[in-house]
This record gives sequence, structure tokens and C-alpha cells, in this order.
Amino acid sequence: MTDSLRPLISARRIKKRVAELARDITEDHRGAPLTLIIVLKGATVFAADLMRRIDTPFVIDFVRASSYGKAMQSSGSVLIRDQSGLDVRGHRVIIVEDIVDTGLTISSLIDNLRGLEPESIDVCALVHKRVAGAKPVAIRYKGFDIPNEFVVGYGMDYAERYRNLPGVYRLTPGTA
Ligand code: IMP
Ligand code: MG
Repeated sequence: MTDSLRPLISARRIKKRVAELARDITEDHRGAPLTLIIVLKGATVFAADLMRRIDTPFVIDFVRASSYGKAMQSSGSVLIRDQSGLDVRGHRVIIVEDIVDTGLTISSLIDNLRGLEPESIDVCALVHKRVAGAKPVAIRYKGFDIPNEFVVGYGMDYAERYRNLPGVYRLTPGTA
């Protein structure tokens, strides 16, 4: 059986919201040293659109974090890689994520980044999943709240598939 995809957030709504988030970021950080830290791989599509709308200088860097592997549920432990070369001392940091679910990934990232002595750390996430018992995370720049369902598209994957979809979809995997 093939996977079932049901539309949740259209490409058009995303485009509008991304422009609003970029405008907020621009206003809040104009002229300040700013680094966007993009969380690979899921946030790449979102970040590519977001950064083209930000109208103040910034630099970008990447980290790799994974808690899911190929599953649809968080494994509960977060692996953070490729963080060694980051130089954000004195910078305002915005972590750009596709989705905050249990909050474990973003919390681990924030804890790690604190050691690099940035001026501040904020979170920008396209979607926030409402999960019972999740770690409370302050998302200063949030695209959308969504129900606790597995989603794909606009960078988000299921076993590496569906990142190329222009909108966000709810996924029910087929039983092969
Ligand atoms: P957290 O640590 O549970 O907040 O999980 C965050 C990470 O899990 C995100 O960066 C995504 O890579 C992945 N993730 C969580 N929920 C979904 C989903 O519904 N679809 C695809 N990836 C997800
Ligand atoms: Mg991710």
C-alpha cells in the first residue's frame, strides 16, 4: 500500500508566514551581529526561503541533529554533530528548525550553544507540534502550531522522502 498524504499547510500560507517571520527577525536584530544556525537536514528548505526575506546582514552556519532515525517517533536521545567550527561569540543566534516536537533536539542544541558564549539564543521553527509531556520550549519566531500528527514536506521527511513537497502534509504510512 502507498503512503497517504493529507494537506495541512499550503505552500501559499507558508510563503506568507515566512515573509512575516523574516520581517520580525529583521526588525528585532537590525544592525546587530546575527548568526542563523540551520539544523540539517529538515530546516534547509525553510531556511532558504526565510533568509532571502531577511533584510539585515547575517551569517549562516549549520548543525546536524538527529533523534528520529528512520522512525516516526523520537528516540529520546539527541545526537548533535558538526558543531565544532561554530564561532558565535557575541553574536545573536537564531536556531532555524523545521519542527519542534518533544523539544529535546532544540533544548540540547541550546544547551550546547550556550558554551560558545553568544549574546543571545532564539528559536525560529516552522511548526510546533503539540505533544503531551513535551519539554517547554520558547519559540520566539514560530510559523504554525499543528496537532500531534506526523508531517512531511517543505524539508521534512519520512525516511528521507517527501522533503521536496512545497506544502506540509499529514502522513499515514502504507503497510508495504
Ligand atoms: P524533537 O527533538 O522531538 O523536538 O524532534 C525534533 C526533530 O524531529 C525535528 O528536527 C525533525 O527532524 C524530527 N521530527 C519531529 N516530528 C516530525 C514530523 O512530524 N515529521 C518529520 N520530522 C519530524
Ligand atoms: Mg530536524
